[in-house]
Amino acid sequence: MNKIIKITVGLKERSYDIITGQGILSNASEYLAPFVKGRKCLLLTDSNVGPLYAEKVAEMLIAAGAEAFTFPFQAGEENKTLETVGGICSHAVKCGLDRSSLIIALGGGVCGDIAGFAAAIYMRGINFIQIPTTLLAAVDSSVGGKTGADLPEGKNLIGAFWQPKLVLMDPEVFATLPLKEIRCGLAEVVKYGVIMDAPLFAKLEENTDKLNAVDLEFYTEIIARCCELKAKVVAADEREGGLRAILNYGHTFGHAVELVSNFTLAHGEGVAVGMNMAAELAVQAGLLDRAVAVRQRKLLEKLALPCTLPPGGDPEQIYTGMLKDKKKVGSRLNLIIPLDIGKVEIKSGFEPADIIKAIRCCCE
Ligand code: NAD
Ligand code: GLY
Repeated sequence: MNKIIKITVGLKERSYDIITGQGILSNASEYLAPFVKGRKCLLLTDSNVGPLYAEKVAEMLIAAGAEAFTFPFQAGEENKTLETVGGICSHAVKCGLDRSSLIIALGGGVCGDIAGFAAAIYMRGINFIQIPTTLLAAVDSSVGGKTGADLPEGKNLIGAFWQPKLVLMDPEVFATLPLKEIRCGLAEVVKYGVIMDAPLFAKLEENTDKLNAVDLEFYTEIIARCCELKAKVVAADEREGGLRAILNYGHTFGHAVELVSNFTLAHGEGVAVGMNMAAELAVQAGLLDRAVAVRQRKLLEKLALPCTLPPGGDPEQIYTGMLKDKKKVGSRLNLIIPLDIGKVEIKSGFEPADIIKAIRCCCE
């Protein structure tokens, strides 16, 4: 029997458990039953994940006493739209879902974000459950209740805070996850080490072989630790009034890097480059030892993540891209700056020229 780990996100009446363990999907009915028994459930999944796991999860829902309906949508960020959310809600009406029904998200962050958003607005809010199938979704997007969709004007511009009732994650689904997606999730895992857990960072450094070989036992332990850290942050600052912003370490630079690379770099790859840029800015501002920035870079490199802007990348264009960030204060960027491994600070007021200089130092 594999080890099952339970972590609680403490949010008073909106508290919920994250349950993880290898093979847990085969016993999912046991965990699902308290929430779904006697209720209608709409299982939302994308066109890649559906053929692999939807039947199994639908069987588990039925075994748990639910009436299950499946709604597949075309995989990809380009489908994280209001149109898809509308399609989910219309299908929910067709299937007769009422205010006691649930939406179940089976997939990566795209699926979880739109399923959660549909749940937040359908009949003014129904319950939902997250079953993440990417590493990024397991350690980040499935926990914390940020849900939403993209607009043509930009990513995640509409959404709601809507916490799931349960997060159920089985690392065995990573067996089918493309390696590039695993690496993108690893960038977020490294992020947790840098922002708040030096022992986790050291453990990652000591076990890059296990990370690169996708050793599922080790992944289970690491995912659980990341979820514990995220749960702590979310419990302290659910709506990102302050502390929760540290989870965006590397992301303001990273989103702009993704954009300027014309999305040839994926989100996690952009975040890896962005963490290097943030560390470079911290070194140049006298806030971080160069040796610490090098340590972060070495770990990312060992995990085959990019640390620099691909050739042709223009630092000024990255800076302009960063100004589109939702989290800026007035005209100044709010940046997460590392002070050491395990310690970051939220800082604004950097001169544009200093930010551009740090970006330039991370160009190939
Ligand atoms: P994704 O959902 O697009 O999944 C990546 C790819 O992997 C897709 O093609 C998907 O079909 C495929 N896939 C998923 N699981 C699989 C499996 N087990 N086997 C085979 N293929 C599989 O992307 P993602 O990286 O999981 O999530 C990115 C999204 O998450 C973005 O939209 C981002 O804005 C959002 N996000 C949200 C939060 C939050 O707090 N809500 C946090 C971070 C990111
Ligand atoms: N992914 C950042 C957050 O959940 O706040």
